[in-house]
Amino acid sequence: MVIGGRGSIGGEVATAWLGDKPIADAGALRLSADKKIAALASSTASSSAVGRTVDLRLNFSSTPGRRLRPTPLRFTVLSQPQQTPHDTGTQSDSHDGGDAGSKRATVLVVDFGAQYAQLIARRVRELNVFSEIVGHRLSAAEMAAKHPAAIILSGGPKSVHVDGAPSLDPDVYDLGIPIFGICYGAQLIAQQLGGTVGRGMKGEYGRTELTRNGASLILPDEAPSEHECWMSHFDGVTEAPAGFTVTASSPGAPVAVLENDDRKIYGVQFHPEVKHSPFGMGAMARFLHERAGIANDWKMASVIDEQVALIRERVGDARVICGLSGGVDSSVAAALVHKAIGSQLTCIYVDTGLMRKNESRQVIETFRRHLGIELIHADEGASFFEALAGLTEPESKRKAIGERFIRVFEKHTGGLTEAKFLVQGTLYPDLIESGGADGTAAVIKSHHNVGGLPDDMELELIEPLRDLFKDEVRSLGTELGLPDEMVWRQPFPGPGLGVRIIGEVTPERVALLQEADAIVREELKNAGLERKIWQSYAALLADVRSVGVMGDERTYGHPIIIRAVTSDDAMTADWARIPYETLEVMSQRIINEVAGVNRVAYDITSKPPGTIEWE
Ligand code: XMP
Repeated sequence: MVIGGRGSIGGEVATAWLGDKPIADAGALRLSADKKIAALASSTASSSAVGRTVDLRLNFSSTPGRRLRPTPLRFTVLSQPQQTPHDTGTQSDSHDGGDAGSKRATVLVVDFGAQYAQLIARRVRELNVFSEIVGHRLSAAEMAAKHPAAIILSGGPKSVHVDGAPSLDPDVYDLGIPIFGICYGAQLIAQQLGGTVGRGMKGEYGRTELTRNGASLILPDEAPSEHECWMSHFDGVTEAPAGFTVTASSPGAPVAVLENDDRKIYGVQFHPEVKHSPFGMGAMARFLHERAGIANDWKMASVIDEQVALIRERVGDARVICGLSGGVDSSVAAALVHKAIGSQLTCIYVDTGLMRKNESRQVIETFRRHLGIELIHADEGASFFEALAGLTEPESKRKAIGERFIRVFEKHTGGLTEAKFLVQGTLYPDLIESGGADGTAAVIKSHHNVGGLPDDMELELIEPLRDLFKDEVRSLGTELGLPDEMVWRQPFPGPGLGVRIIGEVTPERVALLQEADAIVREELKNAGLERKIWQSYAALLADVRSVGVMGDERTYGHPIIIRAVTSDDAMTADWARIPYETLEVMSQRIINEVAGVNRVAYDITSKPPGTIEWE
C-alpha cells in the first residue's frame, strides 16, 4: 500500500508504523529539504481503502539509531498494494509519470477507432471504477506495466478481415488480466483465439432482440430470456474459440455473447455502453465487479483527496499561479489547488471587458469572498478597447485580444517572481487521441482557455483535471462548493463578446450586447432548456441597420441574432429546436428592453457549414 501525507518533523525517519504494524520500508519516506514529509511510504504490511485517512506514529531521529518521541501524522491512502512494493517514485500529476492515478484500480479501454472508447470509458467511471483509454498498438508488456485491473476492447468501424484492420498484441490474452470485448473487440477475441468471424453477413443496426442460451456470467440475472439490445455490425462471430461458451444469440449474430470464465475473457456483440441496451450497464457491472473483482470505490471525493495529496507533495512550499477565465475548467482546477495549498495559490483574472453580463462580478465574488482565494483582478477593459479600436476583421480582432492578454498577464504576474507552477484546467478529452483506427500517439491540444499565455513562461504545469471528463469536472466543482452558475457555465470563447459583435468593438456595443445576451440566457433558463443546449448567445450585427416602426416612430436599428446549438464536442453542432414561444419572448424582450435593436433573427445553420461563433 502506498500512503501519503504531510507534516513537519525535526529530523530523519527512523521507524514508522501503520497502526501497530511496522511499515516494511520506512526508509522510503522521503523528506524534502525543509524537513517536511511531503510524502510517501511503501508497505506490504497492511491494506486499506484508497482515499481513507490513516493515522501513523512515526519516530524521527536526526542521528541514525537514536530514537526520538513518536510523532503522530495523518496520511491518505493513495493506492492499493502494487507488484512493486517499494514504489516511491516522485509523484507528479503527469499522466504517465507514475502518479497515484496510475496506481488505483484502473481499467484500460483499448481504442479501435471512432468514438466508442470514450463512451465506454465514461460508463466504466459511472460504475465507480477508474478507466483510461489506450491505443491498440500498445504491446502486452506496455499494458501490463500499467497494472490494469481489467481490459476492455472497444468497438471499431472496420472489419477484422480487411488489411490493416486494427489488432491487439495476442500476448495480452495471456496476461491473466480479465478482458471484455465489445462488438469489434468481441470479434477480435474470437478471431485471435481460434474462432471464426463470418464475412458479409446480413448485419444488424439498431434495436435487436437478444436470446439467452442458458446461464451467463455476464448478462445480468434480471435480463429476461429474450430482451432488447443495441447492435451495429456487419461481420459477426459464427464460431466461438475452444473453451468459450456461447450464452446468447440474435437473428444476425449466432454468437452474441461468448464467455471463458477460466481465462476470464468475455465478449458481447451488442453495445452495452449505449442507453438503448437496457441491460448493458448491468453486463458491464457484472464484468467489472464480479468477474474482475474490482470494487466500486472510485468517487469524486477520492479524486479530491488523491489530488490534494499529490499537489501538496509536488508543490512543497512553492508559489503557484492560475489564470482564471471564468469558465468551468479553470475554476474547478483553481478551487482544487486552493484546497491543497491554500494561500500559496494566487489566481489572476484578466477582465477583458468582453465578458457576459455580471460574469466578472461573479468570478470575483465566488473566488475572493466565498472561497477565500487570493485573486488579482486585472480590470483591463479599457486597455482591450484601445487595442480593438478601428478593427473589424475577425482575425485581427482575435490577434489584438490575444496579444493584449499576454501583456496584461505578464504585467500582473510580474511581481510573483518566486512562482514555480502554473495551474491549467486541461481535461482528459484534450489529451486522448482524437479518434481514428490508427491514431496511437496522444494528440495534445494547446489548451489556451484564457486566451493564450506567454510562450516563454518558465513555469511547470499543474493539470489536476487531466484524468477527467467534462461532466466529472462539473461534479468535482459541485463537491468543492462552486455555485451551479459557474459549474454549469457554457463554453465561452477566449476573445469573448469581441467575436460576437460583427464590426468594430466598442464599450457601448458591448454593453448593448450584454443586455440582449442576458435576455437570451434568462429565457432559455425559464424554459428549462439551459442544460440541454451546448452554447447559446446573442450576436450583434453592429454595422447593419434596418428600418422598423415602434409606436408611431420610424426606427433604424441593429439586428440581434440569436444562436443556440446542440453539440457533444463543438466539432459539429446543430441548431437547437427552441420552441417558437420561447423565441417569441426572447425577441419581444430584446426589442422592448434593449435600446438600438429593432429586429431579432434566429440562426438555423448547423456546423458544418457554419461555425458556432459568428466570427
Ligand atoms: P467555432 O466557432 O469554431 O467554435 O465553431 C468552436 C468552439 O470554440 C469556441 N471558440 C473559441 N474559444 N478562443 C477560444 O478560446 C477562440 O478564439 C474561439 N473561437 C471559438 C466556441 O465558443 C465553440 O465552443
